[in-house]
Amino acid sequence: MALEARAEASDRRREPVRVGLLGCGTVGTGVVKLLRHNAEMLARKLGTRLELVAVADRSLKPQPSLGLSRALIMRDPLELAARADVDIVVELLGGRDPARSAILIALENGKDVVTANKALLAEDGEQIFRAAAERGLAVGFEASVGGGVPIIRILREALAADRQRAVYGIVNGTCNYILTRMSEQGSEFSAVLKQAQCSGLAEADPTLDIDGHDAAHKLCLLVTLAFGVMLKPDQVYTEGISKIEPLDVACATELGFALKLLAIAKDDDGAIEARVHPTMTPLSHLLSGVRDAFNAIYIQSEALGSSMYFGLGAGQMPTASAVAADILESARRRLCGGRWAANPLGYPMQSIRPARVKSMDDVVCEYYLRFMAADRPGVLGAIASVLGRCGISLASVIQRERGGAAAVPVIMRTHEARERDLKLALGEIQKLSVVKARPVFIRIEEHL
Ligand SMILES: NC(=O)c1ccc[n+]([C@@H]2O[C@H](COP(=O)([O-])OP(=O)(O)OC[C@H]3O[C@@H](n4cnc5c(N)ncnc54)[C@H](OP(=O)(O)O)[C@@H]3O)[C@@H](O)[C@H]2O)c1
Repeated sequence: MALEARAEASDRRREPVRVGLLGCGTVGTGVVKLLRHNAEMLARKLGTRLELVAVADRSLKPQPSLGLSRALIMRDPLELAARADVDIVVELLGGRDPARSAILIALENGKDVVTANKALLAEDGEQIFRAAAERGLAVGFEASVGGGVPIIRILREALAADRQRAVYGIVNGTCNYILTRMSEQGSEFSAVLKQAQCSGLAEADPTLDIDGHDAAHKLCLLVTLAFGVMLKPDQVYTEGISKIEPLDVACATELGFALKLLAIAKDDDGAIEARVHPTMTPLSHLLSGVRDAFNAIYIQSEALGSSMYFGLGAGQMPTASAVAADILESARRRLCGGRWAANPLGYPMQSIRPARVKSMDDVVCEYYLRFMAADRPGVLGAIASVLGRCGISLASVIQRERGGAAAVPVIMRTHEARERDLKLALGEIQKLSVVKARPVFIRIEEHL
């Protein structure tokens, strides 16, 4: 390096790296705490200080104990995103706009961006990542999937030279908490949801979580990192957990399975399977042992084989830990004066293709089936013969004790079947006079 350039680089090293924070709610406050509490350690790692120069939040009041003085606080995120005295913009507002506009303004103004906003990246990621790539800027988004679990770096860096076969994620802590409690207490879904809301583990409006859409947003990002294709949330088959009944959770245990909301992605010779739904996993599998609000991402790679990444997927400090690590990484790069060599998604934008998504009709797996049927001879045979006609073979059958009820549960487990055939069979079975309610089916992932 020429003397002049070396001196310039060393000057840059002495300047603090200036951070602007958009949104100081749960995660934003955690980031402020972490930057303050770990200031000395971060300065040692960086060779200079990280300085929080402004916070934009519409409802934030000064908090001297956190160093949030009146002078630091402003209201308009867009104004902060354009400020000349900011190097890195951290977006923790949530939602689509003004988060999206603020990120684009920050990038137009040459700032690196850090965000935890999976919903925004799943919908508008292409535009945001393209804008960053054109300018050689970074978009850190480690906290957007798995909260504090560093799964983005694992896929982008640690497993970069390997070929990923499949990704299975427990990526929504609220759903995992509810399913764990339903299984351990035998409680109804609605009762456990109320418990979760009381203990702060579910939002007042939990729709995005329990309907599976939050997991679908995260799956879109995982699919791009794992397979180099771009997927929109509406291309992910998404089914939530609100219809799960305690009887099915109990039957799952009886059959040797745990019930999880899994985000599943597989690369089947270029056709991408992308689905989020309640799934039975063998009790002996590592994923089945992931309880309560914990997250885990289980990856099958060609060279490495199987690996799993586990930890807290949400919460103030776990999420702040991932956000602050992204800030540190951006600061390191800025201090070296370098462009962001690797695209944040691990592929140059021009190499990322639109995903060719496999239809759910063509997905093949095993199924758990429950029919509420008349307690009468011949019922089992009638159901089994429709299944047989549709090419679905049975692995086991459980008929619950007779208690004089109008309908009793008939539980069946199938061998592998194509979803199109299963739906055809269930449509016919529902029409049988001995079947008293809509059949229940839950997908089983036995060989993961
Ligand atoms: N919480 C977690 O555990 C977690 C985990 C992983 C990822 N994330 C992601 O992190 C992001 C932040 O989540 P959070 O839980 O910290 O949300 P939050 O507690 O609601 O914080 C957002 C803050 O931004 C403010 N804000 C929102 N829109 C604004 C606007 N237009 N102008 C000015 N201020 C505005 C909010 O003010 P008001 O209160 O007045 O609305 C609030 O103070 C989201 O993208 C979320 O998906 C969160």
